[in-house]
Amino acid sequence: MPRHDGTIAIVTGAGHGIGRCIAGQLAAEGAAVAVLEVDEPSGHETVSQIIEADGRAVFVKADITDAAQVETAFSAAEAALGPANLLVNNAAFTDAGDLKGMKLESWHREIEVNLNGTYHCIRAIIPRMRAKGGGAIVNIASVNGMRYFGNPSYSAAKAGIINLTMSVASEFGRDGIRCNAVCPGSVRTENVTWTIRQQKDPDIFQKLGRWYPLGRVAEPMDIARAVCFLGSDEAGYISGVALPVDGGMLAGMNVMIDEFILEA
Ligand SMILES: NC(=O)c1ccc[n+]([C@@H]2O[C@H](COP(=O)([O-])OP(=O)(O)OC[C@H]3O[C@@H](n4cnc5c(N)ncnc54)[C@H](O)[C@@H]3O)[C@@H](O)[C@H]2O)c1
Repeated sequence: MPRHDGTIAIVTGAGHGIGRCIAGQLAAEGAAVAVLEVDEPSGHETVSQIIEADGRAVFVKADITDAAQVETAFSAAEAALGPANLLVNNAAFTDAGDLKGMKLESWHREIEVNLNGTYHCIRAIIPRMRAKGGGAIVNIASVNGMRYFGNPSYSAAKAGIINLTMSVASEFGRDGIRCNAVCPGSVRTENVTWTIRQQKDPDIFQKLGRWYPLGRVAEPMDIARAVCFLGSDEAGYISGVALPVDGGMLAGMNVMIDEFILEA
């Protein structure tokens, strides 16, 4: 039996990149998936791809910065597929930058989408999961929430998501709700930041590979596999963790070590 047979999942930001890959992989493993997106055409495209592959999916529109829209979308997902027992908080936004150049509106926007938006979705799912005897929540955080790699407002939001993950795991474990975070390193996607960086340097992903002990940046499927595991019964006794999916990058300063060796 496929691992996610019986799973009813809501995946936010599933119109592009990692979210689309997570939605597709969950469906391939047997889940019925509500594709939540603010960008309608891309959300519909994800649904079409899943249905073409003989999966089950519906589109629900919401801007996660609006708690009322999230409520409406979660109700629509429930009406179409039944009560969700898996929520993947993936939707995010960053326009990158540093503290010196930070515009106040940019700080507020990144906290609003990344941290408050994630909270709106958690707030909407908890009573639904409690009523049904439990479920799993997987939050897509980042290595940026654990160390500083630029993008200060995004990083602060991702650190907040890691702490929120622990709050949910602690408070709602007795309701049968598990909550974990996945912390990707660099992932080959076409989001706004990577598109700008690739325009400046087409070899950026290849160059970044040397910072990763496994010798490459991640592909979206590397993240999707971790999410599918944490969202499944195979992870039934895992809650409150922040799992780096970073090819070993946080384990050591690979490039610095190479320089030490050159010095010797
Ligand atoms: N790509 C990377 O290198 C990388 C690294 C670490 C973590 N992550 C995290 O992985 C996740 C996916 O990243 P990605 O690279 O696929 O990004 P992406 O920009 O390609 O996809 C994000 C999706 O979220 C949607 N979205 C944005 N704001 C929204 C809102 N207010 N309401 C609803 N949907 C909204 C977008 O329309 C888009 O489809 C994010 O949480 C990101 O922070 C990515």
